[in-house]
Amino acid sequence: MKRAKITVVGAGFVGSTAAHWAAAKELGDVVLLDINEGAAKGKALDLFEASPVEQFDSRVKGTADYKDTANSDVVIITAGLPRKPGMSRDELLAVNSKIVRECTEGIVKYSPQAVLIIVSNPLDAMAYVAMKTSGFPRNRVLGMAGVLDTARFRSFIAEALDVSVKDVQAIVLGGHGDTMVPMPRHCSVGGVPITEMMPKDQLDKLIQRTRDGGAEIVNLLKTGSAYYAPSAAAVQMAEAIIKDQKRILPCAVHLDGEYGVKGLFIGVLAKLGASGLEKVIEIKLNEEEQTHLNKSISAVKELVGALKL
Ligand code: 2OP
Repeated sequence: MKRAKITVVGAGFVGSTAAHWAAAKELGDVVLLDINEGAAKGKALDLFEASPVEQFDSRVKGTADYKDTANSDVVIITAGLPRKPGMSRDELLAVNSKIVRECTEGIVKYSPQAVLIIVSNPLDAMAYVAMKTSGFPRNRVLGMAGVLDTARFRSFIAEALDVSVKDVQAIVLGGHGDTMVPMPRHCSVGGVPITEMMPKDQLDKLIQRTRDGGAEIVNLLKTGSAYYAPSAAAVQMAEAIIKDQKRILPCAVHLDGEYGVKGLFIGVLAKLGASGLEKVIEIKLNEEEQTHLNKSISAVKELVGALKL
């Protein structure tokens, strides 16, 4: 079988940690690209030198040249500035849209068949920039947010109930911002609805902590934002695509009429396989969920409107 090729754009904390997870899982050969050539080359070489110890068979190459990314199967774009304490993701719009546009142009030139996974913030708008810049069909441009947001929700639930994270299932819909929509009705522990396992006020606190999950880390780190969980989430999506796993994962998808939305990236449940997005799974919402989702959709719409693309 041909080895897959994964490019990670941006050798900051999210990018280099994504390269780490991808190489350690032997998803394929990994290219780490950054305009800071020394950082990309140094981190890639360091990671490759860990491979005999950790016993993973992935070549890892650092570069500042898009030529080295040619024929990638999956490209994870992490480039851009992270938030500082007190900043919202949306404040990164202008600066990161320019960076994401330039990176996408470089990638598309050499990997016209790749599936793009966007991680840069503000996520839903940056995925839109990548989609417009690449001209790719929607199955090959995805935003990473739902896997991260549900991972936070699942971790908090597992900790509160003292159960394995493996047995906690959850869904978060909507944009990757303060208006995200955790879905308690679709959350379960070992198959039992969470609403039967935990009082409402406790669950509400975990939902709010999930919404504030990114800011909680930013406030602790002070000089950057989260990277272990965001990069692990992006790599889980890459793995589903490379291994054609048909996984059902919450991702930001360019909607084409689902939930009454057309032409915006919104977090929904998606099936990921070899062709990238293979299906959007539209779930029936009750009135309260629909109200929350509408609010989130409006927030994303406003953000994308400010892009002036
Ligand atoms: C987060 O939620 C960086 O947006 C990312 O931590």
